[in-house]
Amino acid sequence: MLLRLDKIISSSGLATRSEVKRLVKQARVTVDGVTAAACDMKCDPEKSEIRVDGELLRYSEYHYIMMHKPAGVLSATEDGRGETVLDLLDGPAKKLGLFPVGRLDKDAEGLLILTDDGEFCHKVISPKSGVVKKYYVETENAVPASACAGFENGMVLPDGFNCLPAKLELFGENEKRACVYVCEGKFHQVKRMMAAVGCPVTYLKRLAEGGLELDASLGKGQWRELTEAERISIFEPIRA
Ligand code: URA
Repeated sequence: MLLRLDKIISSSGLATRSEVKRLVKQARVTVDGVTAAACDMKCDPEKSEIRVDGELLRYSEYHYIMMHKPAGVLSATEDGRGETVLDLLDGPAKKLGLFPVGRLDKDAEGLLILTDDGEFCHKVISPKSGVVKKYYVETENAVPASACAGFENGMVLPDGFNCLPAKLELFGENEKRACVYVCEGKFHQVKRMMAAVGCPVTYLKRLAEGGLELDASLGKGQWRELTEAERISIFEPIRA
């Protein structure tokens, strides 16, 4: 597919469109070994070898990142007052126009996907897609086994909200911790569900979305690109 050179380079996050104009003027861009004459020239990013300052460009239309979100950072693209997950990015990734796929509360941690692909984002968060999100929670009180049935049947929260069927997995008798599996992501959903069974949440971490688990080697605040297989695995069943 033929695309403008400035579109190709800017969508790699290497430079903004206006910066590409300057790079081309300074003869720092080559296409198949020939210095690019204009930033509006058309080429096929899949077939042409595009280099900026000699460095080969890796083109992809969309970008997908896995982040280990730390507590205290907002999962939003901007926040007038505090730090957002975008502030944790660096290098070209900062210029890609990424946004978080669904929310994780400010005090929550764990797996957060960032992308610039709106359709993918919608598919992951829509309950219709059935992508199950797995959360580990710690709670003020021991989680009673009797709470499991309520989760399975689709509980009605005190404010009248009807939850879709979910799963509560206990660690054992008298444990103030559990895993919760949900395929919808309403505001404070897991906290509200746990509070409704008398177990307010004191700590919450997202461990997985569909078949994609948080990479245990990523420290809090660290991120990396998803492989294609990992991106696809999000739409596969969650691992037991
Ligand atoms: N449920 C919550 O209550 N909080 C989150 O951040 C995610 C799910």
